[in-house]
Amino acid sequence: MKVTEIKLEDLQPKEFVEQKIKEISSIVGNGLAINALSGGVDSSAVTMLGHRALGARLKTYFVEHGLMREGEPQEIVSLFRKLGVPVELVDAKAEFFNALKGIQNPEEKRQAITDAFYKDVFARLVKESGAKFLLHGTNYTDVEETLAGVKRQHNILEQLGIDTQKSYGYKVIEPLMQLRKTGVRKVAKILELPEEIYNRPPFPGPALATRIIGEVTPERVKIVKQATKIVEEELSGTKAFQYLAILHKDRVTGVREGKRDFGLQIEVRCWDSKDAVTGSPTRLSFDILDKLAERITEEVPGVVSVTYNITKKPPSTIEVV
Ligand code: XMP
Repeated sequence: MKVTEIKLEDLQPKEFVEQKIKEISSIVGNGLAINALSGGVDSSAVTMLGHRALGARLKTYFVEHGLMREGEPQEIVSLFRKLGVPVELVDAKAEFFNALKGIQNPEEKRQAITDAFYKDVFARLVKESGAKFLLHGTNYTDVEETLAGVKRQHNILEQLGIDTQKSYGYKVIEPLMQLRKTGVRKVAKILELPEEIYNRPPFPGPALATRIIGEVTPERVKIVKQATKIVEEELSGTKAFQYLAILHKDRVTGVREGKRDFGLQIEVRCWDSKDAVTGSPTRLSFDILDKLAERITEEVPGVVSVTYNITKKPPSTIEVV
């Protein structure tokens, strides 16, 4: 299926919202649909579109896979409850960590996450709820990068020739597929989502697993979670597009209290970008970099080295997996 982009200058957010609400209503009919909310702008916009189109016939879940940032699942669920959208928290930590066990290769990791989402968790939720449709926040950049072979975005299915009805037992509806992120933000604003959502820095679906080189284990996620919290606290005042912490696989020699310490390495990335298709490292002041290094080595157990990525995308990518 060929997808045509709606360029930002051609997007009329209000009309777009009205049209998508009609489309979702007519596809789902009297049936039920489910969707997974992560709190990112894409899945939040889809949740509101689905809520407006289907009301109680949409069941929204927050899949707690154990790879989200500190406190994120509870914060997002309570924010949407305040907006009148009931969200059920699904504990799927064991399923995801089992699926990721022993995997080092980045694309295999992405595949394991895709399978855990679609074959295991969504298929189970569809079955339990009786829904026939899954509403999904796929955007135009996801489709483009996956088809170009840059990365297999975890949410691309039908554009890769996967028949979701046959493979997983449900149909996927992707109302945002013609928009890039900036377009989605405009739509989210029209849908009356709060600014913390419509201007939320991007965060990938496979979450912190895209920021861990090597095996994803609960222990390693804990480390990258702590480093992420520090990076977000220190860099949220910048106008950067996205900032993140990466846990490296190799250990390096450090020294603590006069003794050799074969410790962990954290890489910080902070990006200037318009649409995540290309990007360049933000020219952070050395004082900020210094503070990051100090806090990460002091507050995250075992870290002896902090580096800052100075490479553009391409050839780098925003995430490391
Ligand atoms: P990369 O690493 O490909 O990232 O330069 C481009 C943008 O996409 C986000 N990203 C993802 N988003 N599912 C998503 O929903 C994914 O599998 C995924 N991988 C990367 C990344 O955070 C950046 O904003």
